[in-house]
Amino acid sequence: MSDEFDAVVSRVRERVTPDDGERERLQQAAATVMERAREAVADLPVEAEVLQVGSTARGTWTAGDRDVDVFVAFPPELARSELEEYGLAVGHAVLPDGHEEYAEHPYVVGEVDGYAVDLVPCYAVESATDIQSAVDRTPFHTRYLASRLDDDLAGEVQVTKQFLKGIGVYGSDLRTRGFSGYLTELLAVEYGGFRAFVEAATDWHPPVRFDPEDHGTTEFDDPLVVVDPTDPDRNVAAVCAPENVARLQHYARELLADPRASLFEASEPTAYDAERVAATVERRSTTPVAVRFDRPDVVDDQLWPQLRKSLVGLTEELDRRGFDVFRSTALATDAASGVDTPQATDGDSAEQTNGDAVLLVELSVAQRPAVERHEGPPVHVREHATGFYDTYADDPDVAGPFIEGDRYVVERPREFRTAEAFLDSDALLDVRLGPHVASALESGYEVLVGRDIATLADAFGADLADYFEPKP
Ligand code: UTP
Ligand code: MN
Repeated sequence: MSDEFDAVVSRVRERVTPDDGERERLQQAAATVMERAREAVADLPVEAEVLQVGSTARGTWTAGDRDVDVFVAFPPELARSELEEYGLAVGHAVLPDGHEEYAEHPYVVGEVDGYAVDLVPCYAVESATDIQSAVDRTPFHTRYLASRLDDDLAGEVQVTKQFLKGIGVYGSDLRTRGFSGYLTELLAVEYGGFRAFVEAATDWHPPVRFDPEDHGTTEFDDPLVVVDPTDPDRNVAAVCAPENVARLQHYARELLADPRASLFEASEPTAYDAERVAATVERRSTTPVAVRFDRPDVVDDQLWPQLRKSLVGLTEELDRRGFDVFRSTALATDAASGVDTPQATDGDSAEQTNGDAVLLVELSVAQRPAVERHEGPPVHVREHATGFYDTYADDPDVAGPFIEGDRYVVERPREFRTAEAFLDSDALLDVRLGPHVASALESGYEVLVGRDIATLADAFGADLADYFEPKP
């Protein structure tokens, strides 16, 4: 078994460790970017240091990745507006065909010699605890890890990243909520290698806590805590969702029990077509309902938390109204890939759509009775009880009040007998929704019920396959 594990891992390692040619080409491209950036900085009225950061600075990128992260570190006294202005100026000088993206502040993304380059301005602060923006930590990460990683451990990092990618938990973006590159590297350093890491993970009992530099900070309420060696106030694993910690544990056990290379490959399910969705709905005999609307024009990191919040709000409300939520999911087409289309000049090429977003909820209950029970206070709570009685006593649409145990009860008309009726009404907008979801719904949405959700297969066939064939 042990031999098998080592054999699988060494084959994966062979594949994910870039060869000398790839390393040289990437570092050549990075050097070009940095040289151009230094030239652009020379034209500015301030000094700034150009730094290579991220996995390419540490030799921990996985073979085939073509992303280079370069930061321009400005003096901390510089006003934020100037940091943004100068940062963009350097970005556009280095990446003339690039476009702007927004994290905490705008930065430029573009291509050099076939490599995707992020050119990000930050503040050159004294210590990571003095940061003015989250990206200011990044150079500290690079310095911290550079001194702790050698070629062998870098290889272990690459295998670990590949495993986390294969099982779908790699990435600290807010759609994935998984393991960031930096977190992966810290864990590999902590355990000294991939095998020790997976073996340990099989027996984790969250909360699991690491504090590599013994900062002693304790106030984190997350399933996985890795106190940032460069900043005691930060849990590097803060965005890592409990599902992804559990997923890691599951697949770590799988890998040890039956070592196989397929666990290092993300598996794309065969997309469902409309017919298959309809047949599946038929077979399950549940009642799926979907609210489809225009994808709000915000980046994924803004969209996904809002979709999740909206889905929680919606499912809670459907449960409250008696429709028993079976399972649910949110769907969205990918963000329009960054091409910075200048505002159309010819008046209205208006219907520039960003694709769709969907809240899909599968219900156990298709229809409720025309009446609902409504319990009042115990009769002995005189004031409340009398108020309740008087409210309903003369209402011709209500059965009761009558008494059950020590309480008044009425049976009154139900507001919505079907989830569809509720979703079609303005009451949907009273649900706790993410702000951009709320405004998207205000400008219109479509409700799909039962087999009609099959029309979602065109845009979301793979997501629907995942949904109807869920895996750990
Ligand atoms: P990347 O997301 O590119 O990660 O962020 P990476 O370490 O280079 O890993 P891969 O191989 O590309 O996937 C670049 C750097 O930005 C900081 C980290 O220091 C990271 O190394 N960063 C990024 C964070 O601190 N937090 C994040 O959520 C993302
Ligand atoms: Mn990177």
